[in-house]
Amino acid sequence: MAKSGRAARARRPQSGAPASRPAQAKAKGAGKATTSAIQRLWPTPIGLHRYGGADRLHPELLEVFAQLRTAQQRQRGEKPGPFFASDDDLTERVKLDGFKDFLRFIVQSLGETVKKANGEAWAGRELDLRVGFQGMWFQCSRDGTYHDIHTHGNCSWSAAYIVQIDEPEQRVSHPVYGAANGVTRLYGPHFATLGGAFVDVGNAYLQPPHLDIEPIPGRLLLFPSWLAHKAMPYDGEKERVIISFNASIHASEGDQLHGYSAQ
Ligand SMILES: [Fe+2]
Repeated sequence: MAKSGRAARARRPQSGAPASRPAQAKAKGAGKATTSAIQRLWPTPIGLHRYGGADRLHPELLEVFAQLRTAQQRQRGEKPGPFFASDDDLTERVKLDGFKDFLRFIVQSLGETVKKANGEAWAGRELDLRVGFQGMWFQCSRDGTYHDIHTHGNCSWSAAYIVQIDEPEQRVSHPVYGAANGVTRLYGPHFATLGGAFVDVGNAYLQPPHLDIEPIPGRLLLFPSWLAHKAMPYDGEKERVIISFNASIHASEGDQLHGYSAQ
């Protein structure tokens, strides 16, 4: 008892000083600290690419999408509306010659992004990659429709490719949605921990917890399938049309790069 009593007296502030004063003084004396490096663990890789053949392909693609939309709505018994998501078999459905070039662009972009994202994990190995699509579909939105926050499954990478949307100046002039009109919003891993959380300058690195990717026709956004994201509400003169897909990337040598360890 006597020991804890002395400890309690030692912590008591003197002369009416605030209880936090000793801690502040300690922080000012941080020159004695020996830490000289910081590690940033578990980064979130994303890839941004631009398709050079967009101007050529998109008009043809929009015609094909309009036909598929009509046919699939009829098949599903859906009434035409401001939001539509197609079946996820675009790689089989679209027969345009230009679409083969587009798929080559996607495979090449995936290869570049996963190579950079996994540079350390692959430890300099040059892997022979096999890209598989676990679904590719198009999605249309207008009149304030959106695709709420979600993640993708059964794949390692996912994507949003912009086919059509209003010109930037027109898009951001929306009186309600402004700059967020029709963007793809990515939510970082910290986002789930921020609700009601403590905020000070010490954890300012957590901000901002999300990132908006500007929608530009021809832009391909690649992101890890586990990353939460949302297609924000969109309203404009042109309908917002995107292609989305899920992809798996295997190495012909096999996927296990490291031995199992109990450590
Ligand atoms: Fe998505």
